[in-house]
Amino acid sequence: MTTETEQQGSRGGFSTKLGLVLAAAGSAIGLGNIWRFPTETGEYGGSAFLLVYLICILVFGLPLMIAEFTVGRAARSSTGNAYAILAPKTSWKFIGLASTLTAFLILGYYNVVAGWTLFYLGEAAAGSFVSMSSQTAADGSNVFAESFGAFVSNPWKPIVCLVLFMAFTHVVITAGVKKGIERFSKLMMPLLFIIMLFLCGCSFTMPGFRKGMEFLFAPDFDKIDAKVVRSALAQCFYSFSLAMGCICTYASYFRADANLAKTAVSVGAMDTLAAVLAGIVIFPAVFSVPGLEPDSGAKLVFIALPNVFDSALAGVPVLSWLVSCLFYLLLVIATVTSTVSLHEVITSYVSEHWGFSRTKSAWIVSILCVILGVICSLSMGPYLGDIKVAGMNIFDLFDFVTAQLMLPITGIFISIFVGWKMNRDTLMRELTSGGNCSGTAWLYKPLVFILRFIAPIIIAWIMIAAFLD
Ligand code: PHE
Repeated sequence: MTTETEQQGSRGGFSTKLGLVLAAAGSAIGLGNIWRFPTETGEYGGSAFLLVYLICILVFGLPLMIAEFTVGRAARSSTGNAYAILAPKTSWKFIGLASTLTAFLILGYYNVVAGWTLFYLGEAAAGSFVSMSSQTAADGSNVFAESFGAFVSNPWKPIVCLVLFMAFTHVVITAGVKKGIERFSKLMMPLLFIIMLFLCGCSFTMPGFRKGMEFLFAPDFDKIDAKVVRSALAQCFYSFSLAMGCICTYASYFRADANLAKTAVSVGAMDTLAAVLAGIVIFPAVFSVPGLEPDSGAKLVFIALPNVFDSALAGVPVLSWLVSCLFYLLLVIATVTSTVSLHEVITSYVSEHWGFSRTKSAWIVSILCVILGVICSLSMGPYLGDIKVAGMNIFDLFDFVTAQLMLPITGIFISIFVGWKMNRDTLMRELTSGGNCSGTAWLYKPLVFILRFIAPIIIAWIMIAAFLD
């Protein structure tokens, strides 16, 4: 009888199926679920948007996730080398290299935002929001906006936070795939859902609960147009961490008998559940504070929300403190499981390509990403704030180049690779896990059809339309 480690070669990997699902879900569940999905749902037709989003997942998100799973597990290597292994001596190797470079650049600026979540957790724990709330109420100024602006442009505070956050990520990575990533995900993902459920429970008690739920779920099919479909597709692409190499690299550690289709469905379901729960946590609170409009992105999470929990639960100070702390802890957890997955993409490539130990590779990656992060962070303050490319500071430029250009282009080539180029027997073998899951063989035809003809066109449409906007 062969052990799992023998099946996987000497690389080792996730030891349980639950571990691999939770690790992949950890990569998928991130800031996108908490600060992007709920606002889009509310603004674009509530449960009608949710229905469109679910269809996007079925015809687009899950097939692409399965495609990346098959590449990673078939190659049993980091994304950076996977395409070179499956199609030796061809230019397809550039897909792997592009994914790895994208992961590196994204980690560089995502890390900055990750540091902010840590800082806000500290502020919540120290009770700073309470005095800011009373000042805002007293003189009508938006102290939260001012203090956020002052914090992000501060030359050292965000940098200390991003270094701390990277140190945290680094420790998980150096502990290894099984003892680090898997163990950490098994601890963090249940904790994340427990916190979310607790916060949902608190939402019920808020005065704005009904209004918040109406904003989030009331179906309005009139709002659904091409632009909304496009943004649902883009959200799905980002939320599933597609084309960043994370899904493919994690799949290289999957057990040989793991059912890839089932894993993708589990990860997609958890990711969507987390996004919907985040909406249930956020909007009842937002609608409990008169005069506040639902915002999105950093503005929602770092400017509106610190005020919201305190005001919505003003009658119960201990609860408002606890809810604020738990909410920012939730953000930290969601973010760190994502940064870990990005770090792993780069570390595993550096270690394989140059033959360095895992620890040495992780150090190289951590240091380089901190340098990138420092540059991105300083670009929001007085030191590097003047450097502008096409009207964008360095931070926004990184975001634009990776999210609008590199991710979609790589995504198109990934679906073309698996749809047209990858060895058919290898694809079938991975899809059925070497015959272990022969019940999923029927997926082969629809999967290939989608990857060949639908996914590349959809991604190109999202990219071009975003440019024209
Ligand atoms: N899927 C993540 C989210 O929803 C996006 C992400 C993953 C970003 C990994 C960076 C790294 O927020």
